[in-house]
Amino acid sequence: MISRACKRLVLHLPDAASTERHETGASITQSCHSFFRELNKVGALQKGHNMSIFVTGGAGFIGSNFVIDWLAASDEPVVNLDKLTYAGNLQNLTSLAGDSRHIFEHGDIGDTARVSQLLAAHRPRAVLNFAAESHVDRSIHGPGEFIQTNIVGTFALLESVRAYWGGLDASAKADFRFLHVSTDEVYGTLSRTDPAFTEAHRYQPNSPYSASKAASDHLVRAYHHTYGLPVLTTNCSNNYGPYHFPEKLIPLMIVNALAGKPLPVYGDGMQVRDWLYVKDHCSAIRCVLEAGSLGETYNVGGWNEKPNIEIVHAVCALLDELRPKADGSSYATQIAYVKDRPGHDRRYAIDARKLEQELGWRPLETFDSGIRKTVQWYLGNPDWVAQVQSGAYRQWVQTQYTEPVAKGVLATCI
Ligand code: NAD
Ligand code: DAU
Repeated sequence: MISRACKRLVLHLPDAASTERHETGASITQSCHSFFRELNKVGALQKGHNMSIFVTGGAGFIGSNFVIDWLAASDEPVVNLDKLTYAGNLQNLTSLAGDSRHIFEHGDIGDTARVSQLLAAHRPRAVLNFAAESHVDRSIHGPGEFIQTNIVGTFALLESVRAYWGGLDASAKADFRFLHVSTDEVYGTLSRTDPAFTEAHRYQPNSPYSASKAASDHLVRAYHHTYGLPVLTTNCSNNYGPYHFPEKLIPLMIVNALAGKPLPVYGDGMQVRDWLYVKDHCSAIRCVLEAGSLGETYNVGGWNEKPNIEIVHAVCALLDELRPKADGSSYATQIAYVKDRPGHDRRYAIDARKLEQELGWRPLETFDSGIRKTVQWYLGNPDWVAQVQSGAYRQWVQTQYTEPVAKGVLATCI
């Protein structure tokens, strides 16, 4: 088995070493990932470790894509701990039904006793923390859950992981990783002409959500510096793709358009985000997990800065092509400008050169290819959409788009 893994490793070496020859991001990313995966396998096999990873929040949007992609590329089991909040959905994982490599555990990252017991039972080589409250608008309506999960929960998780890691033998201890999945929103906002965020940009979070993520990043950093916990942090831009909960811009526009409802654009629609197809975020996380330097942070982004209104028009144009309306009108006629989000960050932009140059990662999708796949996925999965638009979802839409928040009405169009 070791020699087979070594042989594959040797076969992949020239690819990884000569990335300049590749014309597409696809081959570079695949080389990077397969090279480090094989390297890791050889090391672990030689040391006789049981291999598994422990993912938190793996029933959410990015977490479920990550688990699915991981098991498509590797036989290494995934323990998936998720509290199944409104955003957690086991339907995202139905393609893994009956797959013994996926071990789902219902629970809270803040439950130290439970997490400690799970770590002791499964003995993972890495913990990847996706679990969070993730929606900015919800954090404006009610920040409490964000403080609880994103700060207190991450602290509790770090304590459980520190205790588990402290009990490993020297070799397993050295190989262990805690990877914390964070956001570009911790850096605050940019003007139109500012350079993109690098990893050295100061933290300046502006919403309760981003402040809670910033606090969790600082805790992760502190556990490395104080206790030597082998941590890695990724700060990613806006994701889109399959299983994206329709409270967020792109899936909300798709489902509202198809339902004949208004497409609510906040303010002037000229806020800029940097969009990354979710599968590219997943490949970046795999790359950082296998090859990132301990204690380092890595920005992840798609070099796809676009104003919101352009995104909405792109979605409408694709729907016009793929599901034309009976009356021949464009879905764009449903666009409705509504009151802006309080404290709305004007622009995010990610400088991902560190990840690209040090670890050889590149996104596979352009915005055009990724948004087409995304719209096609929503058109092909009406049952998933219907299931997530449950009573709780309808209640949120009512709160966000028709009810006043602390100071003034946020949006009134539905
Ligand atoms: P999501 O809201 O879709 O999913 C979050 C998941 O975490 C859900 O399955 C939920 O049930 C689970 N969860 C929440 N609280 C929990 C708790 N206390 N214990 C265990 N599980 C819990 O979020 P997402 O968009 O998939 O984001 C995942 C991570 O990536 C988050 O940390 C987020 O901050 C970060 N991130 C998201 C984006 C984006 O564009 N969506 C971009 C950059 C970073
Ligand atoms: O930048 C990374 C972040 O991206 C992640 O950390 C967050 O978890 C994720 O939710 C996302 O945050 P945003 O606030 O940027 O995403 P959202 O989809 O909520 O909004 C995208 C932009 O679209 C933002 O400028 C607000 C605007 N918007 C959003 C909604 C829901 C609208 O104009 N209308 C809407 O109805």
